[in-house]
Amino acid sequence: MTIFNVTVIGATRGTGKEVALRLLQAPTKFHVTILCRSATRLDYDTAGSTIITGDASNQHDVETAIQNANVVISALGATNTTPFQKVDLLTHYADVLVTAAERLPVPPRLIFVSAMGTGESIWTVPLLLQVVCRTVIANKMEDKFGMEERVGKYKGEWVCVRPGMLTDGEETGIYRVGEAPLNGWSIGRKDLADFILKCVEGDEWDGKKPVVVY
Ligand SMILES: NC(=O)c1ccc[n+]([C@@H]2O[C@H](COP(=O)([O-])OP(=O)(O)OC[C@H]3O[C@@H](n4cnc5c(N)ncnc54)[C@H](OP(=O)(O)O)[C@@H]3O)[C@@H](O)[C@H]2O)c1
Repeated sequence: MTIFNVTVIGATRGTGKEVALRLLQAPTKFHVTILCRSATRLDYDTAGSTIITGDASNQHDVETAIQNANVVISALGATNTTPFQKVDLLTHYADVLVTAAERLPVPPRLIFVSAMGTGESIWTVPLLLQVVCRTVIANKMEDKFGMEERVGKYKGEWVCVRPGMLTDGEETGIYRVGEAPLNGWSIGRKDLADFILKCVEGDEWDGKKPVVVY
């Protein structure tokens, strides 16, 4: 069986943690590397994984974390920000990661968590959500658009997953995925992680920006 070397960035909580937990449950399939700012923030059993302490904005740290990777999963999110605040974490990080990945002899597949309504897809989300995306979280959406633009120029394979509003409910295994308007609102982080694992093992969504909603 092929072992996938998977690096997860943003695994201390939220979606990235759910992804890491699933990968760690299948040690015969995956070797997991986690890049995090502090290992003390990993509040789950990471036995069998490689932990790299560093910052996702730092070129050297990211290069170290992905040096053996077949797949890199980015569930990075700007922390401690207020609703209208200007942020460029994801745009800058995408440039750092893509640059690092293109330096490798075999560029890994990059899977990014973006958001439903990013860029041109703003017209495909429910009207009330459009208003929120254009006002309260406009700067965060612009940051995600910058990330997607940089990822689109990557020479290797990539997927930009566009989830609806994230919730913390139980895993259902029942959700919709597609590029066309899906008229949905939300998705649980556990179900989103389930879809991301499908992207790790299959190439159906390579080069695409699938929306994931209930
Ligand atoms: N909330 C929503 O409804 C919604 C909807 C669609 C898309 N999204 C997007 O989905 C993504 C995941 O969101 P989430 O809520 O599941 O996770 P989250 O709680 O935003 O987690 C963010 C992760 O990124 C890490 N991180 C932040 N800055 C870092 C840095 N400079 N270096 C290394 N790690 C860093 C955090 O680590 P620390 O523990 O060190 O802070 C944490 O592990 C985000 O991009 C979010 O914007 C959210």
